[in-house]
Amino acid sequence: MSHATYDIKDRIALITFQNPPVNGLSYALRKSLVVFVDQAEADSGVDAIVITGSARAFSGGADVTEFGTPRVFQQPILRVVIEVLENVTKPVVAAIDGVCLGGGLELALGADYRVAAAHAQIGLPEVKLGLLPGAGGTQRLPRVAGLEKALHMITTGQIIKAKALADTALLDKVVETDVVGAAIDFAKEVVAQKLPLKRVRDIDINPEGANEILQAAREKLQNGKKGQIAPLKCLDAVQASVFMPFEEGLKYERELFLQLMSSPESAAMRHIFSAERAATKIPDVPADTLLRKVEKVGVIGAGTMGGGISMNFLNVGIPVVLLEQKQDALDRGVATIRRNYENTMKKGRITAGQVEERMALLSTTLSYDGFADVDLAIEAVFENMDVKKAVFSELDRVMKKGAILASNTSTLDLNVIAGFTSRPEDVIGLHFFSPANVMKLLEIVRGDKTAKDVLATSIVLAKKIGKKPVVSGVCDGFIGNRMLYAYRDAADNAMLAGASPSQIDKALESFGFAMGPYRVGDLAGLDIGWAVRKRRAEANPEAYVPVVADRICEAGRFGQKTGAGWYKYEAGNRTPIVDPVVENIVKEFRDARGITPRVVSDQEIVSRCIYALVNEGAKILEEGIALRASDIDIVYLNGYGFPAHRGGPMHYAQQVGLFNVVRAIKRFAAASDAEARFWQISPLLEKHAESNEPLK
Ligand code: 3HC
Ligand code: NAI
Repeated sequence: MSHATYDIKDRIALITFQNPPVNGLSYALRKSLVVFVDQAEADSGVDAIVITGSARAFSGGADVTEFGTPRVFQQPILRVVIEVLENVTKPVVAAIDGVCLGGGLELALGADYRVAAAHAQIGLPEVKLGLLPGAGGTQRLPRVAGLEKALHMITTGQIIKAKALADTALLDKVVETDVVGAAIDFAKEVVAQKLPLKRVRDIDINPEGANEILQAAREKLQNGKKGQIAPLKCLDAVQASVFMPFEEGLKYERELFLQLMSSPESAAMRHIFSAERAATKIPDVPADTLLRKVEKVGVIGAGTMGGGISMNFLNVGIPVVLLEQKQDALDRGVATIRRNYENTMKKGRITAGQVEERMALLSTTLSYDGFADVDLAIEAVFENMDVKKAVFSELDRVMKKGAILASNTSTLDLNVIAGFTSRPEDVIGLHFFSPANVMKLLEIVRGDKTAKDVLATSIVLAKKIGKKPVVSGVCDGFIGNRMLYAYRDAADNAMLAGASPSQIDKALESFGFAMGPYRVGDLAGLDIGWAVRKRRAEANPEAYVPVVADRICEAGRFGQKTGAGWYKYEAGNRTPIVDPVVENIVKEFRDARGITPRVVSDQEIVSRCIYALVNEGAKILEEGIALRASDIDIVYLNGYGFPAHRGGPMHYAQQVGLFNVVRAIKRFAAASDAEARFWQISPLLEKHAESNEPLK
């Protein structure tokens, strides 16, 4: 099988990669490339070689579908292919369009010259897969892009438009159209003028100032990506490009690459890559489902969520009409949106012109009549079924046929909401996370009657606005919040057993969460949860089990906003300070229940909290609320700060071993009746632990 074609045009050999969708550098493509280069070299009717891909992709890099298979190391490996290009005696020109990433860019760096389309996207994103560029990218990119730029690109995986790289030696020419034609003309020119072959490996790097640049980058990385090893290995490899001869640097890069390839971190990050893509595919919704058109969006409620939700659409050029009951609420909402954009502008991320462009796409209304031409309405009003009923009845009345009616509810039953309309098939849940313009996760809640094309349209739209969509069935808390409840309860159990809130926070922060649950609580405010619990307790006093958080709130401690919560805070400072008052509250709570505190290790805290997520995740899977275990990982990674290098709770459990997870849960459950009630093991989890089959 060949993954490339060979043509000759005006004595120039044109080798075109043919491995859709993104010309991953498969074994077949690597082999075809070498065969064709040898053919061109041997043909006296050929003066030069142009290598190219498609309009979508020069190449997206190593074929990720080969990872974990012998194919990835089957000769010719990419390093060899690049050497073949470098050693050809005829000029090689890379014609770059679409994406030119990872191994794709490394391949292009093996050519003598590079001609790119202005909009081509160039980068070495291996670090995002827990890897480093392993085919010479760390040695060659600094030679053409400069140390600082190359270091940034390689350690962050940043992708840059060719236009922005036009002034570097990485690109010899940047064109607006017909990149292949331009590359052929360029090759002819090289031949006509007998220009020398320009091997990137032969360029010297000026070591002046390199130590300072490398040191500053190292400090930044050490303080940043907690627990991740790949970014620092990327830096080590780039450092070698400055201080080692080329061949030695290449060898060093290879060693580091192989270490990372077999690291749990890379396995986790590669899992995330495929999990994100799997999450957008719904088994009973065909890939070619005809989508509904969404050219105008209506948002009801201009509060915390409505404003952020609106921004997502304005950002990608979709007009939004925002509806409220009163003018002052609308004015406040619009002012908040503007302020957010202006803050982004102050950080240099958008221009003043873009702020105005986006604001110009926003209109407001106090009447549902303004919704007649809207294709999608998203409701973000108070979390109250009567209010939702009023809103959806109005939407049903005014919205055109075929429009989509969405709710951002976080706790209410979507099927009941859909029942307020005469068109439940058009109703869907779009559960954004706060702040809605920032958080990547979007839970798409599929009601019993939601139409397939409504679901398919929502997934595509989610990707368009930069979200990571995951489909959830209807249940209390959907996927993410339901798991969060279990996680928080597990933390509380560890506290009752003897751990302090700060020990629990620190243990989970060492595991990789940016913040432990009690610090998060203080940041978000403890009063909302307290109000919910009080309502529940009033409704069903018999069933209510008090928690330590109730006592914290009763003491007027609502978190950072009141200067005290699980910690205390000095005025104007967000640094948590351990407070003996809290220790006392916890002690009294334990005493009242006759609990003698014991030493709880950090490891036990982490196991309790993470296995609670896993157990609840398995129940969610079992009930069909999530379609796949990997969907659950995507929810927790993007909505709740689960550390990326651990791949999500379900992937992590798989790495620990399901047998070990279940064994630990059984031990926790044996401690008391209350623990036994909490740790009811998911039968699915138990079954898989027994059979050693992965949870899928
Ligand atoms: N190999 C094989 N398939 C790939 C691929 C690759 N490198 N990159 C993407 N694909 C597939 C995806 O799995 C997806 O398949 P599907 O349709 O069956 O789900 C399809 O291409 C389209 O991908 P996206 O949905 O992500 O499409 P986008 O247009 O949004 O993004 C992209 C395209 C920017 C190329 C993005 O897919 C991407 O970032 N890919 C990974 C790039 C990368 O990390 N390359 C480095 C690989 S490691 C390497 O090269 C090692 C070397 O240094 C030795
Ligand atoms: P909010 O109180 O900040 O905003 C609600 C807005 O809706 C207010 O501006 C109010 O004036 C308006 N409103 C109320 N009734 C209305 C009606 N009948 N017609 C038009 N406007 C009306 O509430 P928030 O936090 O934005 O929540 C909105 C929805 O989003 C709720 O369903 C909530 O459960 C959900 N949600 C909230 C999250 C959060 O973190 N705040 C996260 C995810 C979902």
